[in-house]
Amino acid sequence: MAIPLVILLICKLLSLFSQICYATTDTITKGQPLPDDGNTLLSKDGTFELGFFNPGSSNNRYVGIWYKNIVVKTVVWIANRDNPIRNNSSKLVISQDGNLVLLSQNESLIWTTNASSSEVSSSSPIVQLLDTGNLVIKDGNDKESVFLWQSFDYPCDTLLPGMKFGWDLRTGLNRRLTSWKSWDDPSSGDFTWGVEIGSNPDIVMWKGNVEYFRTGPYTGNMFSGVYGPRNNPLYDYKFVNNKDEVYYQYTLKNSSVITMIVMNQTLYLRHRLTWIPEAKSWTVYQSLPRDSCDVYNTCGPNGNCIIAGSPICQCLDGFEPKSPQQWNVMDWRQGCVRSEEWSCGVKNKDGFRRFASMKLPNTTFSWVNESMTLEECRAKCLENCSCKAYSNLDTRGGGNGCSIWVGDLVDLRVIESGQDLYVRMATSDMDGKHEHRRKVVLVVSTIASLVLVMLVAFCIYMIKKIYKGKTKTRMSREDKDEGRQEDLELPFFDLATIVNATNNFSIENKLGEGGFGPVYKGTLVNGQEIAIKRLSRSSGQGLKEFRNEVILCAKLQHRNLVKVLGYCIQGEEKMLLYEYMPNKSLDLFLFDSEQSKFLNWPVRFNILNAIARGLLYLHQDSRLRIIHRDLKASNILLDNNMNPKISDFGLARMCGSDQVEGSTSIIVGTHGYMAPEYAIDGLFSTKSDVFSFGVLLLEIISGKKNRAFTYQDNDHNLIDHVSNTK
Ligand SMILES: *[C@@H]1O[C@H](CO)[C@@H](O)[C@H](O)[C@H]1NC(C)=O
Ligand SMILES: *[C@@H]1O[C@H](CO)[C@@H](O)[C@H](O)[C@H]1NC(C)=O
Ligand SMILES: *[C@@H]1O[C@H](CO)[C@@H](O)[C@H](O)[C@H]1NC(C)=O
Ligand SMILES: *[C@@H]1O[C@H](CO)[C@@H](O)[C@H](O)[C@H]1NC(C)=O
Ligand SMILES: *[C@@H]1O[C@H](CO)[C@@H](O)[C@H](O)[C@H]1NC(C)=O
Ligand SMILES: *[C@@H]1O[C@H](CO)[C@@H](O)[C@H](O)[C@H]1NC(C)=O
Ligand SMILES: *[C@@H]1O[C@H](CO)[C@@H](O)[C@H](O)[C@H]1NC(C)=O
Ligand SMILES: *[C@@H]1O[C@H](CO)[C@@H](O)[C@H](O)[C@H]1NC(C)=O
Ligand SMILES: *[C@@H]1O[C@H](CO)[C@@H](O)[C@H](O)[C@H]1NC(C)=O
Repeated sequence: MAIPLVILLICKLLSLFSQICYATTDTITKGQPLPDDGNTLLSKDGTFELGFFNPGSSNNRYVGIWYKNIVVKTVVWIANRDNPIRNNSSKLVISQDGNLVLLSQNESLIWTTNASSSEVSSSSPIVQLLDTGNLVIKDGNDKESVFLWQSFDYPCDTLLPGMKFGWDLRTGLNRRLTSWKSWDDPSSGDFTWGVEIGSNPDIVMWKGNVEYFRTGPYTGNMFSGVYGPRNNPLYDYKFVNNKDEVYYQYTLKNSSVITMIVMNQTLYLRHRLTWIPEAKSWTVYQSLPRDSCDVYNTCGPNGNCIIAGSPICQCLDGFEPKSPQQWNVMDWRQGCVRSEEWSCGVKNKDGFRRFASMKLPNTTFSWVNESMTLEECRAKCLENCSCKAYSNLDTRGGGNGCSIWVGDLVDLRVIESGQDLYVRMATSDMDGKHEHRRKVVLVVSTIASLVLVMLVAFCIYMIKKIYKGKTKTRMSREDKDEGRQEDLELPFFDLATIVNATNNFSIENKLGEGGFGPVYKGTLVNGQEIAIKRLSRSSGQGLKEFRNEVILCAKLQHRNLVKVLGYCIQGEEKMLLYEYMPNKSLDLFLFDSEQSKFLNWPVRFNILNAIARGLLYLHQDSRLRIIHRDLKASNILLDNNMNPKISDFGLARMCGSDQVEGSTSIIVGTHGYMAPEYAIDGLFSTKSDVFSFGVLLLEIISGKKNRAFTYQDNDHNLIDHVSNTK
């Protein structure tokens, strides 16, 4: 008992004078190097140890720092990772110029701290291992001296608490993490992580030369693209971005808990590990990237990654796939392009659509201002033709600052930690400002009225001809089969999502009742508003046919057709999801004495024109050739700018059983709009739709319902009235 105590005492005494007792020292001095003889440096509180070691079964020898008290040897820093020592007769010494150097047996240089001599010139430099795991060179005479060099500035694959990760802009120092090649080879791998500076810095992970993941810019509280509870029990973090420094740093809330960030090349993941003393092992607390939407640019420029979606990639509203062929086979790399050009030259003609919970896009082509409000930000974006989107820079306190993007929107995803992103849209694609549009419309209106008169004349002529002529035509089948070849992946939504979105089909959300079932309004988790058509259960159609029909409908894309967003099949339920039209249907305006005041001549003309264009597309320009069979005012929906879109266009096909033939036993349609040969004999062709369009045209001009029309005591309907008025 006594002898060890005496030894310890002597040791202590000796160390006071000449620091001979290696076992307790944390410093290397000029007179006292550290040879590879089993001795180590130990930080004052015994947390970290520095010494020579062989990783795993490797024969290479390295100088490293590891946790002293953790049974699983965890090396957090290596001096000579890319320049191993081949045998164990080297030593760490302080050189003449004050640098720490690693010398081999024959005194050749293996590794050096290589700080410029002006920085380290000190009369008595010492090297010390601190309790934080930082190995520093400092002036031994000066208690409070600054570090002349520190290992924290040259991280390997591990980020310890208190380490700065990122840039010192004054010296150009960039602290990055680089993984080990494998568990027993600490040389630099190809999985790296670093801060990318620019107008709005981002933290980026690279797999070789390929960008693999980005956290998204820091929005004051968190990174826009990393979901992680800010108030976790383990650590606090901050992101400093000023003219001198740009770095990330975390600190422990409770210093007895051990946690660190490690780059793992085997899995290509950045792990945050936590030591569990009871289990004597590390557990993964968080790993990045988290899912396939996190992988950089998964959906291409202007594509939006929604992890719950099927498929996960969707073009932002107002955009369409750049290459539909590749997009449909889930090769999303080319991304999306605007479906309509902006009218950028015209002042205030474009608008913005809000996308909620978005990871902010790549900031390379962005511009920021810390003091602008969101309104000023919008104005700033609007005035520059190349501006594509804007958002708040900082989300704290309700949001402030301004960020605008002038390039493509790259690497978007929906994520809990995301924020509102406002994307520029052509007016017809979006909500807001119609005043300016009206002005432009007014200019055209004089010319429009003229054309209208001619059109009316033509249509009356056509209707008369059809009315008398009862012609039979057949619909071509080849077109349909050709369309089936390239199969389109249409997003599938599960019932739970829809029940959630419509508040369990609550009556408040019911928009109306169409020919094939009720229609509900729904709001998806990402804030997108949709209309859901719940098909009546009686349609008696197989699932496969239903799906095929839906896919056919989804292929029909035109600005004057309501867009199909997805579908849902579950049990008895069959549902179709459409874009939501805030102004509901045309009949609500047309036949209402109050509302019809909004429909001035230019608007009516525009509506007619647009319906005609949509119909032409259905009949001729799409490759499928669809006969609508139920064209009427309540099937014309209006967007915010009173642009009409035809709805229910595909459903006619679905509910009839033999519609490829030119006749059918089931008459779908609405009396008053049906061509006589169809209503009576069940014969239909594109001409039946033209008939319905003619009726619609008369209704739009007159503001009267065809069937409810009475004039001077005769019981003619509107058509009869028009055709009898010579
Ligand atoms: C270390 O390596 C050098 C040259 O490679 C060799 O000369 C020397 O003998 C080796 N020492 C030991 C102890 O193996
Ligand atoms: C050198 O390292 C080998 C194993 O790598 C070990 O067996 C040997 O004892 C070491 N020699 C010295 C002098 O430390
Ligand atoms: C020292 O040994 C290394 C190999 O360990 C060898 O490459 C180098 O040339 C030697 N230098 C001298 C001066 O002998
Ligand atoms: C030391 O740094 C200088 C430039 O700062 C560089 O040229 C030299 O190669 C470095 N030496 C070593 C051994 O890293
Ligand atoms: C990566 O993590 C796995 C599982 O935790 C581990 O087995 C492997 O050794 C790690 N790879 C590296 C290079 O650290
Ligand atoms: C810190 O963690 C230790 C071990 O988990 C625990 O015993 C201690 O109460 C914690 N201290 C604080 C202040 O939370
Ligand atoms: C953004 O994109 C540019 C160009 O494509 C690329 O060089 C840069 O690394 C990306 N930056 C981030 C933070 O992803
Ligand atoms: C940022 O916006 C404010 C307010 O609009 C303006 O005063 C300031 O000059 C802008 N700063 C920069 C760098 O553009
Ligand atoms: C629009 O913004 C880009 C990028 O900031 C800039 O290069 C361009 O000059 C701006 N154009 C106008 C008209 O302000």
